[in-house]
Amino acid sequence: MLRTKTCGELRKEHIGQTITLAGWVDTVRDHSGVLFINLRDRYGLTQITFIDNDGTNSLADTVRSLHPEDVVQVTGKVQARPEGIVNKKIPTGEIEIAAETLTVLNRTEVVPFQPSAPEIPAEETRLKYRFLDLRRPAMQKTMVLRHRIVKELRDYFDELDFVEIETPILGKSTPEGARDYLVPSRIAKGEFYALPQSPQLYKQILMIAGYDRYIQIARCFRDEDLRADRQPEFTQLDLEMSFIDLEDILEVISGLVVRLMKNILGRDVKLPIQRISYDDAMERFGHDSPDLRFGMELVDLTEVAANCNFTIFKNAASNGGRVRAINAKGAAEKYSRKAIDELNQWSIEQFGAKGVAWLKVDNENKLAGPIAKNFTEQELTSIAEKLDAAAGDFLLFSADTFETTCKVLNGLRRRLAAELKLIDPKEMNFCWVLNFPMFDWDAEENHWFAMHHPFTAPLAEHLPLLNGSKEDIKKIRAQAYDLVLNGFEAGGGTIRIHNPEIQSKVFGLLGLSQETARQQFGFLLDALQFGAPPHGGIALGLDRLVMLFAGLDNIRDCIAFPKTAKAGDLMTGAPSPVAEKQLDELAITCKPEPQA
Ligand code: AMO
Repeated sequence: MLRTKTCGELRKEHIGQTITLAGWVDTVRDHSGVLFINLRDRYGLTQITFIDNDGTNSLADTVRSLHPEDVVQVTGKVQARPEGIVNKKIPTGEIEIAAETLTVLNRTEVVPFQPSAPEIPAEETRLKYRFLDLRRPAMQKTMVLRHRIVKELRDYFDELDFVEIETPILGKSTPEGARDYLVPSRIAKGEFYALPQSPQLYKQILMIAGYDRYIQIARCFRDEDLRADRQPEFTQLDLEMSFIDLEDILEVISGLVVRLMKNILGRDVKLPIQRISYDDAMERFGHDSPDLRFGMELVDLTEVAANCNFTIFKNAASNGGRVRAINAKGAAEKYSRKAIDELNQWSIEQFGAKGVAWLKVDNENKLAGPIAKNFTEQELTSIAEKLDAAAGDFLLFSADTFETTCKVLNGLRRRLAAELKLIDPKEMNFCWVLNFPMFDWDAEENHWFAMHHPFTAPLAEHLPLLNGSKEDIKKIRAQAYDLVLNGFEAGGGTIRIHNPEIQSKVFGLLGLSQETARQQFGFLLDALQFGAPPHGGIALGLDRLVMLFAGLDNIRDCIAFPKTAKAGDLMTGAPSPVAEKQLDELAITCKPEPQA
């Protein structure tokens, strides 16, 4: 070893010991007669002292030649820092090393940014020089946290008799709803593997194979539009169990939540985790991953709207749409006309709103604002009552289809809560969302699509509806569950269909002909014929979990080598062109990009 200690571990009790450290030069200071290096590694920072009062210290010139991020090795004696220069802010702040030897292990070029500087460089620079960015203490903290979470997961499931089994990366396309990443086969020319969107089908096969408790820390690949909480390549804690029902999955995952909260954040969680149905979540919060850390719930005003003379509201109500609103309590003064115009424009651009109407409650408890004149006194009183409005409140309305009112008001609710600082940043709010619809109608393609995935079982009592009318099918609720943390979908899963006839029926509803279903999922349909146990599972998004446990708001900060919003890797330059010879071996010709 080139070192005997790390830069984070020396304390008062080590005083008098001779030790060797190795690390990166964080700073060099020359205080006429005394030179200091702050030496850094991933464990911390240690001050190294070189006394040169009479200018005879043979190491002084080398120290003066050092630059931040040079790599050095130092041997010396641990000593107490003199009174007055004790640094209470760092754990090694009571000691320093009186250097005896100094070896430069490597010199650095001038760095584009200083990893320990408080200001965070532009993300493009960080991703390009990821090796420097990962040297930043905040990044190192997150990477270690990620490791600890993964270790807790593995220990927890090991204690419960789960077996970790790896499933292929080169496989067959699994329908999780996104576009596949394809890998051409050299041997079977013109044929492709698909990178797994999740190990879904393999884990079901493992249940049929008798591995009744499976987990995997699994890499998944989805070619979809990226957002702050999505990456094209991400990691799931994937789980499947046999001979269980929905409650068993919720119990196992609730136990995991308790353990992670205790061992990672040192906090207790009271069980049971609260539950909310999909319908309630959409009605009260406009989103299936509701953020329950604050109120500002959506209130329905369609009935009042249907009978009023304000055409925008009246038309929405009479066209089968909805008029709904939120009340930002006490926020009237905070939002000027200009700020409201901006909220309005944002809602139009982000969520396809036609516009957002608003009212403020004045000091006499009267609703005031440009739309107030369209309502009778009685209607205004009714609106105020339903929204529990009081002086100083700011009311925002969306009159549109149910779906659009959900998007607009969910967006406004989250944005306003952040702007009004209604969220305690330390809170970790978990909930289960249950009773998802099984299908949604795809008007363009003219068939149903699966809200979760095609292997999801309906509620047992809804099975007969599979043979019913379109209205019946719409009513079918799935044995599906999402784990939501602070308004993010942290995980999702379902109880699976284990009966081949029901699985074929569902494929049919999803517009898959028997032939296509056999072609794509013949192996599953076959396996279901050979003694498939009742089974179900869930997958937690590991990157999202780390993001939320670390209190971050960008998934890229929780992944060592993430992709940009354009799915590129700025450090390696991937994706990149390949040699003609490689394409020839695959019998692939690239078409010129179509002109826009
Ligand atoms: P689902 O598609 O809901 O379910 O994914 C499970 C969880 O994975 C995370 N996740 C993502 N994280 C980062 N980037 C992405 N692009 C991304 N997509 C999903 C989310 C999500 O809740 N096979 C099923 C699970 C099952 O039924 O057992 C599945 O993959 O946190």
